[in-house]
Amino acid sequence: MRLRSVELVLPQAQAAAEFLQGTWGLIPAGTRGGTLFFRGTGSHPYILSLGEAAAPAVRAIEFSGTPDEVSALQLRAGASGAAVETFAGLDAPGGGAGFVVAGPEAQKYRFVAEAAPVAELPPERDRPLQITHAVLNSVDVAACERFVEAALGFRVSDRTRMMTFVRCNRKHHALAYAHSDVSSLNHIAFEMNDADGVMRGIGRMRDAGHDVVWGPGRHGPGNNVFAYFIAPFGGVIEYTAEVSEVPDDYRVGSPEDWKWPPGRIDQWGISTKDTARIPAAERVFRFG
Ligand SMILES: [Fe+2]
Repeated sequence: MRLRSVELVLPQAQAAAEFLQGTWGLIPAGTRGGTLFFRGTGSHPYILSLGEAAAPAVRAIEFSGTPDEVSALQLRAGASGAAVETFAGLDAPGGGAGFVVAGPEAQKYRFVAEAAPVAELPPERDRPLQITHAVLNSVDVAACERFVEAALGFRVSDRTRMMTFVRCNRKHHALAYAHSDVSSLNHIAFEMNDADGVMRGIGRMRDAGHDVVWGPGRHGPGNNVFAYFIAPFGGVIEYTAEVSEVPDDYRVGSPEDWKWPPGRIDQWGISTKDTARIPAAERVFRFG
């Protein structure tokens, strides 16, 4: 199973689309009705979609897998007691059958059976390949953990004081749940080829007037290189690279395992974090 896409709705979707294409580096992947789809250079038909709405919201976090993987997961989710809603043909590039299941804080997780693999585009050193994780603010992280483990078969990789990281394949995390007083999208991470791609992305964003709000740095859990920005449409977006892969018997880390020395919030220790602006941006996109 692979994280594929995040479905967002927001006011002035066209302006957001222009930013995502012109500056962030996504590639248009078609439209369906009023919904705009974007892809990276990786093997997903799309990695983000935008629709028009009066208020910003996350409509779904989408995963894809083989038809067998998706039907097995549908059985598991149903058996766990979660409310499962099936669909026969998704109205999106590539189509596909699958199901949607709601999490404990109204998060929607969509699983789509991929009929045929999508060809990768030639890699470009400063363009995102795909989405590698989404972090969700949660009022009850433990409940979210229980849900993804029981209903979706995801596994916890690490817990820190701030959040719990969960995976759906060997990548250290596809989702993380951050302790919060709201249920919202904390950020979406777009994967670059390497750390050089992250740095080039920072430069391109800075040229366009969007300075990094945290980074560049290297995280503890996942060991990935990161740079965070506040998108002009309001949410937090990240360029990342080099996220670790973990074995089946990976020992689940605890907050005690992930303590930084005083003054440090990442491995490198060279960046500052804009703690005035970031928290508000992490609350812009609610679920619904
Ligand atoms: Fe991240």
